[in-house]
Amino acid sequence: MTRFSFDLKARDGRARSGVISTPRGEIRTPAFMPVGTAATVKAMLPESVAATGADILLGNTYHLMLRPTAERIDRLGGLHKFMNWDRPILTDSGGFQVMSLAGLRKLTEEGVTFKSHIDGSKHSLTPERSMEIQRLLGSDIVMCFDECPALPADRKRIEASMQLSMRWAARSRDAFGDRPGHALFGIQQGGLDEDLRGQSAEALRGIGFDGYAVGGLAVGEGQEAMFSVLDFAPDQLPEDKPRYLMGVGKPDDIVGAVARGIDMMDCVLPSRSGRTGQVFTRRGVVNIKNARHADDPRPLDEDCTCPACTGYSRAYLHHVFRSHEMISGMLLTWHNLHYFQELMSGMRDAISEGTFDAWQEGFHAQRTKGDI
Ligand code: GUN
Ligand code: ZN
Repeated sequence: MTRFSFDLKARDGRARSGVISTPRGEIRTPAFMPVGTAATVKAMLPESVAATGADILLGNTYHLMLRPTAERIDRLGGLHKFMNWDRPILTDSGGFQVMSLAGLRKLTEEGVTFKSHIDGSKHSLTPERSMEIQRLLGSDIVMCFDECPALPADRKRIEASMQLSMRWAARSRDAFGDRPGHALFGIQQGGLDEDLRGQSAEALRGIGFDGYAVGGLAVGEGQEAMFSVLDFAPDQLPEDKPRYLMGVGKPDDIVGAVARGIDMMDCVLPSRSGRTGQVFTRRGVVNIKNARHADDPRPLDEDCTCPACTGYSRAYLHHVFRSHEMISGMLLTWHNLHYFQELMSGMRDAISEGTFDAWQEGFHAQRTKGDI
């Protein structure tokens, strides 16, 4: 059986490209993972998600434990079979979503208890229970159970939270055990502080993981602050393991993160924006609800090969968006996911060819040009 492994194939400056091998297939890095929170990438068939170029999806412990429950998914053959996606799946561990979505939370050394955002029922998550849920789901890449403090927070609070997350990382590692073909990733915390990030990286390296995430970013600190952390954080993590920046981001965030040594990312942005009429293109953002598109026979992007751009005009996409037709979310989500995957493949090629600096210049230059 293929074990989980990571082959770094090329470097250009601090940017890296490579391949993660898993029993369910290869993940080309830098990789963007579409978010399939509730066992679906909203508005997309799994085969359509694959057609955009995605090698891996992200699923969520928090949502799936509440509905339909991990035990039910396990009885039905696991998450891959349940949602008809046979490629790799990474699952987040739940703590972060509890903090942002659940009501009435109580945090202790043991874990967190909370009320469901769906029906108010009471639940708890611990590192051990999160590992069990992610095993029942059949996740290929399991995330440690961690806590992410909302920023801004004072240093004492960030330090205590990071240390708790590191104790939870050790418990996650113990509870995960030895599962050939499945990977467990640690999550670095420590806010914007280089010293705390260094201590967190040290703790995680001591425990030993198959990959390392940079957590606790994209929580309202802004791009400049995030990039300043990414100027040191990836270098604190092992070189020979994948580095995953959680919850990022906009196209220019993604490019800046890859330039700083990040290998994997996930974000709801392309799928969520697809349903609110915000379209990402090489030349910038298009708001399809804007009246100026109502009579426009041109495609969203004349160079894009996705179904929305090859089959439909801006006028049509404007019309179905304004009419709340379901095809609007379907087409715009497809386009956005296609664009994000093209962005990743463009970066992978440029890194392999040693032309990433020029590629980045082209990326930024295209985006400032003219009316879109
Ligand atoms: N998603 C975005 N940021 C984080 C984080 O810090 N931890 C976890 N578990 N998930 C995240
Ligand atoms: Zn398109």
